[in-house]
Amino acid sequence: MNDMTPTSAERAEKLEGMGCKRKRVEDIRFVQGKGNYVDDLKIPGMLYGDIVRSPHGHARIKKIDTAKAAAVPGVVAVLTADVLKTVNLAWMPTLAGDMQMVLADGKVLYQNQEVAFVVAESREAAADGVELVEVEYEQLPVNVDPMKAMTDGAPTIREDLKDKTDGAHGKRKHYNHIFSWAAGDKAATDAAFAKADVTIKEFIVYPRVHPCPLETCQCVASFDKIKGELTLWGTFQAPHVIRTVGSLISKIPEHKIHVIAPDIGGGFGNKVGAYSGYICAIVASIVTGRPVKWVEDRIENLSTTAFARDFHMEMEIAATKDGKVTAMRCYTIADHGAFDACANATKWPAGLFSIVSGSYDFPAAYCLVDGVYTNKAPGGVAYRCSFRVTEAAYCIERAMDIMAQKLGMDPAEFRLKNLIRREQFPYTSAFGWQYDSGDYHTAMNKAMESVNYKKLREEQKQKRDAFKRGETRELMGIGVAFFTEIVGAGPSRACDILGIAMFDSAEIRIHPTGTGICRLGTKSQGQGHETTYAQIIATELGLPADNIMVEEGNTDTAPYGLGTYGSRSTPVSGAATAMACRKIKAKAQMIAAYMLEVHDDDLEWDVDRFRVKGNPERFKTMTELAWAAYHEVPPGMEPGLEAINYYDPPNFTFPFGAYICVVDIDVDTGTTKVRRFYALDDCGTRINPMIIEGQIHGGLTEAFGIAMGQEIHYDDDGNVTTASFMDYFLPTPVETPHWETDWTTTPSPHHPIGAKGVGESPNVGGVPCFSNAVNDAFAFLGSTHIQMPHDHWRTWTAAEKLGLHG
Ligand code: CDP
Repeated sequence: MNDMTPTSAERAEKLEGMGCKRKRVEDIRFVQGKGNYVDDLKIPGMLYGDIVRSPHGHARIKKIDTAKAAAVPGVVAVLTADVLKTVNLAWMPTLAGDMQMVLADGKVLYQNQEVAFVVAESREAAADGVELVEVEYEQLPVNVDPMKAMTDGAPTIREDLKDKTDGAHGKRKHYNHIFSWAAGDKAATDAAFAKADVTIKEFIVYPRVHPCPLETCQCVASFDKIKGELTLWGTFQAPHVIRTVGSLISKIPEHKIHVIAPDIGGGFGNKVGAYSGYICAIVASIVTGRPVKWVEDRIENLSTTAFARDFHMEMEIAATKDGKVTAMRCYTIADHGAFDACANATKWPAGLFSIVSGSYDFPAAYCLVDGVYTNKAPGGVAYRCSFRVTEAAYCIERAMDIMAQKLGMDPAEFRLKNLIRREQFPYTSAFGWQYDSGDYHTAMNKAMESVNYKKLREEQKQKRDAFKRGETRELMGIGVAFFTEIVGAGPSRACDILGIAMFDSAEIRIHPTGTGICRLGTKSQGQGHETTYAQIIATELGLPADNIMVEEGNTDTAPYGLGTYGSRSTPVSGAATAMACRKIKAKAQMIAAYMLEVHDDDLEWDVDRFRVKGNPERFKTMTELAWAAYHEVPPGMEPGLEAINYYDPPNFTFPFGAYICVVDIDVDTGTTKVRRFYALDDCGTRINPMIIEGQIHGGLTEAFGIAMGQEIHYDDDGNVTTASFMDYFLPTPVETPHWETDWTTTPSPHHPIGAKGVGESPNVGGVPCFSNAVNDAFAFLGSTHIQMPHDHWRTWTAAEKLGLHG
């Protein structure tokens, strides 16, 4: 070795592997407007579909007359439920075991429901056709209130189910009831409450909200009658699932369906499900023999494709008088809208909601969730969270603050007293989850020190005194939230979708020159997978990340996978990638041993090469071994250097974080200014710190939107009053606060590289933190719980109710 020979550290740095703030490779095309999205696709002879939607929240359809629409120049076909019935596609199965109308069959159950599909030579002609479809409706009583869904005399939402005593998840209690799902030990919990020193009970609502990806849901369907093959391009977070469900619904053999998800402009759970527009485009292509494009507009997106949350939670906590929690109990009504189209793993009708005991050492816990039908759009997706985890985190974090208030304890101190301790991991919660790893106290203490929590509380005390003396009209609130996520669905023993185990996959081929391609069953929607999977491979195989191409979203080339949502890509496919690399590395080691004429065991790995133990001058780099794999393999060994791994995780991963927010509220206008927001996240081993920071910024901005203004609201007649960005708050850079980010690193013990998911964390932890900050501002005046969203009007109203306006 001479002085010019790079050291191991220098060679490692050049690889741009794990831990490197590698620039996002996809940004080269994204920032130049050179991405390739569904709407960029133009196929000769392509037609355009547009949807006739119901103006009513609940109505019987007396008649549909399509004659005038069909006569519009350029209109080629008009589909209704009657047409779909001829191919047995008027209804489709949902991911939650329910059936859903593709086009309204006999009645409409929510406003903007799909009634007819007009297919035309141009978008404009299709829109003209939509205007001329004549539908005669007879209005029916509407119910948009989940708390009234199971009352006597409530309007029957699903006439097709009204006499069915059993649903997909057991007995039904009422004609509008979908499922009951319980977890935990009811008897032990009730007993703990019976002897508790202190208890709190609060009705906590997480309103209906909707993800806002830049790009709405869309597809192009092209059916080749000669080959009997369907190609479907679309905004799919889970392309393989769409292919399987598409085959089951359409009866087109699965190998004759090609699903391609090109670049996707944000998903956040919105692009997991199967929507009527997709089915109609497919049928229209079969009927017309031409490709058909369907692109949703913003109003259609906000008002019809899958919503999130709508959880109505009655939460209780029991504690000793010195502030140790002893039990929690939660009863929830979950509003699923008109069809149960929740995107959950099959066995989990309420998702992973039983993470609701949060980050605290509860000896006993119980929760019961009832799902109900209302006259609202279907859905129930994990909007930037793992199935229903955001609802759970919001519920427990609000409740912990309310209990701290009742005990007269500081909310951070109360949390520190009850957080699961480091030595308790792996920790089994009262609900049975095994939290893989955590160091909660270190995270919480670091957060408190970083913001100088003590000083903030002193300042708040002074401000409160000044407020009481009438010297200021401003209130200061300090929000604290500590959350634990459960991501990486999932272990096949716990999770499947329509019977398909929730593993994921990676296939890696290393070419002779030491470059390669990795294909995966996940699908990035902006998370930077092309950048980060290559970093895992770079570290595992010692090849520069720039030499690895990452490809997702083509069901013909990628191994079967369950897709990207609920921060599952890193915990599941990230693990599959590392495991596939290890198979390749094992083969490379045998080739190296053969070339160096030593035993396999005499070799050791050094960043990008195998070298002979005790003789580091003798080595073979991975690039040399790639070449050798194609011409110099040991006798009897197959040539080539590739591997595939289907990874069934042994457990979920449990990322966590400590967030602190400071707000200043003008009680006379309700105006709330976010002075500081500090977010400490622990996602185990960090693959790309820059991408993680970007994920946190994006997720916190969404959390800010949700907590401070978003709600998909229906009036009593079933009109959705927040179906555009005029009424639905989408934060722009003007409103978005500055984010301070931080981290600790507690690797997952069961993940091959110790990584946990991170993409969802800021939404999960951010929402309760904002809400706690606003609530904390008013707590000293006796207020216990102000419902989200905390827009200025609602905050002004809260101040008014407290008599602060004189
Ligand atoms: O499934 P999804 O991609 O939405 O979420 P994720 O697995 O949390 O990953 C989001 C992005 O953050 C990906 O580009 C990951 O590679 C990156 N990430 C990371 O760099 N380190 C981690 N420990 C977790 C995620």
